[in-house]
Amino acid sequence: MAEAKKWVEPDPKRENWFWPTDELRERAWVSDPKIYEEAAADPLAFWEKRAEEITWFKRWDKVYEEEPYAFRWFVGGKLNLSYNSLDRHVEAGKGDKVALIWEPEPTDEPNRTFTYRELLEEVSRLANALKSLGVKKGDRVGIYLPMIPEAIIAMQAVVRIGAVHSVVFSAFSAESLRDRMVDCGAKVLITADGYFRRGKLISLKPNADKGIAGTSVERVIVVRRAGNEIPWNEGRDIWYHELVKDQPAECPPEEMDAEDLAFILYTSGTTGKPKGVMHTTGGYAVQAYTTCKWDFNLHEDDIHWCTADVGWITGHTYINYGPLMNGVATVVYEGSPDYPDYGRMWATIQKHKVTVYYTAPTAIRMHVKWGEEWPKKYDLSSLRVLGTVGEPINEEAWLWYFKHIGGERCPIIDTWWQTETGATCVEALPGIGPFIPTVAGRPFPGIRADILDAGGQPVSPGEGGYLVLKPPFPPALLRGLYGDPEKYKATYFGEYGPKYYFTRDGARMDEMGNIRITGRVDDVMNVAGHRLATAEVEDALTQHPLVSEVAVVSKPDEVKGEVPVAFALLKAGAQASDDLKRELIKTVDQYIGPTARPAEIYFVDDLPKTRSGKIMRRVLKALVRGEPVGDVTTLRNPESVDHLKEMVGYEG
Ligand code: WT7
Repeated sequence: MAEAKKWVEPDPKRENWFWPTDELRERAWVSDPKIYEEAAADPLAFWEKRAEEITWFKRWDKVYEEEPYAFRWFVGGKLNLSYNSLDRHVEAGKGDKVALIWEPEPTDEPNRTFTYRELLEEVSRLANALKSLGVKKGDRVGIYLPMIPEAIIAMQAVVRIGAVHSVVFSAFSAESLRDRMVDCGAKVLITADGYFRRGKLISLKPNADKGIAGTSVERVIVVRRAGNEIPWNEGRDIWYHELVKDQPAECPPEEMDAEDLAFILYTSGTTGKPKGVMHTTGGYAVQAYTTCKWDFNLHEDDIHWCTADVGWITGHTYINYGPLMNGVATVVYEGSPDYPDYGRMWATIQKHKVTVYYTAPTAIRMHVKWGEEWPKKYDLSSLRVLGTVGEPINEEAWLWYFKHIGGERCPIIDTWWQTETGATCVEALPGIGPFIPTVAGRPFPGIRADILDAGGQPVSPGEGGYLVLKPPFPPALLRGLYGDPEKYKATYFGEYGPKYYFTRDGARMDEMGNIRITGRVDDVMNVAGHRLATAEVEDALTQHPLVSEVAVVSKPDEVKGEVPVAFALLKAGAQASDDLKRELIKTVDQYIGPTARPAEIYFVDDLPKTRSGKIMRRVLKALVRGEPVGDVTTLRNPESVDHLKEMVGYEG
């Protein structure tokens, strides 16, 4: 093995275990695995040390306090998220460093870049403008913006004056916007005329108008992005550029208490009503800063690109606050990965010399389908670290990403976390490893996790169970659900009580503490007494060379209790046939065993997906069970459902 000069090498004893090379170890912020023991011995001291790396107006009096269903970090400390993202770099003489690179979708339009000083001035102008409209500390401001620099500027301006942002994904419907604005009682909405996606102009303002009609929103700030004609409500609507133009470029940041609310972000639960996840200032700042720095090994010269939308927590933490608090350049891309062709992401990495690329498994599988000839056309040698988030990544996609994007030299950091945790919680660290396909890694230093059985007892290594987080709870963990303390208690502490935050994910842990996430609790089946995650069957099926993507759901069965049913998307050129079905069954036998055999395999053209790219298994489950399919308005491709109904002979 000595002749291999790769940065990351597989462990010869364990198939597909990869480790950092000496070179990577030397460059890493943390490379000694002792950090895990040290942090475990005194997590409070560990987090205090991390907190000392950001700037506080006043140091905390007490690092952590806890009572049932409530906990506080850095009690009595004062700070500001925007100050930590911007001012402190300018004050340190780094005002001329690039902070933000915006890549518009149209290829004939120039990039926009902002230095830290420019970004600070722009943020300060908007902050002053918000004040001029009467926005005060604690007021809620809605942000319904596409992926343009103003989305970051808006979030920063809101937290700068101590107001609370609630960002709504720009591709969400008017109804989704309304639900969220009503729930949080927003006073102002920041939106845009339109934006570009897949080469098309998408008008946004009419949706915004519809979404806020009759709500508490009094003023609407409109960014001119696409130049399209839009309806205008005189007296309520104001152009962003007119509003900020005469505002002073200085705005002192509000001194926020560590436990003051920073933002609310809505996420869907199992019921129809979205939950308003509340994040506070101090703990969020510290964990966002530290995880971004350590997970991606960020140094000053890094160009960090997280491909999420700002409407998701990933965009909040790893496009905006995390990279900016670390003083690196963050890339914001407006459009779609397949415009003008399948090489857009790779062309963009080459163009901006991106060093860290953080994306979702579903996106990687899409690229696998499009083929490796696309990344091959571009120089991706600037890349150092790759990341994934959002769902379990199957082995094939992991190895493809590792080989064709990372050139077998970049570690893949598979980060497990949730809207609720605010920042990553389980992942391998680039200087320590191991990097194992389908395994997220160990809990981040200072974070305590366990796998429990249904009765609340820890399971043995290798056994399946439920992932919980233990006190001291992670600094960035949610502090509640806006306006619904009962639901907060029931959702996260209902099963195991106040000493365990229940992630609602199934998982297993090996002897070393590496955690493999097997999917949401709702996605766990019980087949003839065997606990089996739909993700495991999916993983097995995607091992077959002709399968591109697959979704597995469970269906009740008289004999076995439940059985898996698979919906498989084949690779271009592959032919659906009964022979192929038999081959797939064999593959499942091979990777899991006959208990996991799907009772039915459907070959499909499309799978129902959310706008963030997650397969909506709930819909598939309803289809195979003949149950009501429910709301499909949040799907990116609601038309896929009709086709599937026909295929499964749905009569619900
Ligand atoms: C759920 C949270 C965190 C930002 C994006 C999603 C699943 C997330 C992983 C991963 C396996 C993962 C979990 C989690 N998930 N990351 N690396 N491996 N599963 O945020 O919408 O709040 O969803 O996504 O099921 O609970 P979210």
